[in-house]
Amino acid sequence: MRDYTDLPQKVNIIEVGPRDGLQNEKSPLTIEDKVDLIDRLSKTGLQHIESGSFVSPKWVPQMANSDQVLKQIKRKKNITYSALTPNLKGYHLAKSANADAVAIFASASESFSHKNINCSIAESLKRFESVLNEAKRDNIPVRGYVSCVLGCPYEGEISAQAVFDITQALLQMGCYEVSLGDTIGVGTPLKCKQLLQLLLSQIDASRLALHCHDTYGQALANILTGLQEGIFSFDASVSGLGGCPYAKGASGNIATEDLLYMLNNMNIETGVDLSSLIKVGASISHKLNRKNQSKVGAALSA
Ligand code: HMG
Ligand code: MG
Repeated sequence: MRDYTDLPQKVNIIEVGPRDGLQNEKSPLTIEDKVDLIDRLSKTGLQHIESGSFVSPKWVPQMANSDQVLKQIKRKKNITYSALTPNLKGYHLAKSANADAVAIFASASESFSHKNINCSIAESLKRFESVLNEAKRDNIPVRGYVSCVLGCPYEGEISAQAVFDITQALLQMGCYEVSLGDTIGVGTPLKCKQLLQLLLSQIDASRLALHCHDTYGQALANILTGLQEGIFSFDASVSGLGGCPYAKGASGNIATEDLLYMLNNMNIETGVDLSSLIKVGASISHKLNRKNQSKVGAALSA
């Protein structure tokens, strides 16, 4: 484990607010408001914005207009605008909306897999294989997610070995990176460290990311643990937007502003401008009429 003077010098932040955040909002934003959010985020220095989700509109109506959103945003050349795709149908829709990258999402928990995508883990891998095959032909990068890596809302404890197996399977199938999802934010640093040490015994840190929901206020502590283990890609959500519709009670990811504040003050480079991001966080919180979940955002805009 590294001490604080030996952490990665540069970190990738994957902004998931427009997807992980907005998929859980009770009153869905209009297409124009979503486009405005992504366009504003594009001006903060972020290089990857997960911008929508091509899932069944019956399952997640909030994401139903993702094709229009992706078509209407003002794209910047150096930014990856990605979208979730649970199956080939979703992949085809994402491709025709010009998603720069797609993400498939598996789970380390059988019960969560059924609740979230209506199939077993093994069946989901078969579906994802066809997405990966087509994406490879189309030269579209595929990111993988594994949910419930530190606990499941239905099964409780999840074994680190189960997380390792599904992560390896996604990487071997061709995902460029797997984001490890603490879907309900129950993880704590010791458990996170033990999980990462198992994974990193056979997987390079450059192939892993952390996706920490902050339900129990543990996200930043888990991210710091990730940094100390050599991880340098982290998902975050502007103003802490979000949750998961199939994980009751789960709150959003770590607020991007809070992550950035910590990284900036530890001299870790991200390329993202905190003050611009704080403005975006304040504006989307106001638009959604919700409390800004970013502590840094609330403190610095007070
Ligand atoms: P199903 O009902 O088993 O699917 O759902 P189906 O293949 O039987 O199709 C049923 C209907 O859905 C059909 O339409 C299909 O055409 C349509 P109908 O004939 O009834 O009119 N359909 C689609 N429509 C649009 N786009 C598609 C699509 N696929 C089928 N891609 C399915 C299976 C996977 C589609 C469904 O379960 C689903 O959409 N699940 C998504 C749930 C979801 O989005 N969850 C949140 C994202 S995951 C997450 O938040 C976790 C993460 O953040 C990491 C973490 O925090 O851990 C990533
Ligand atoms: Mg999530």
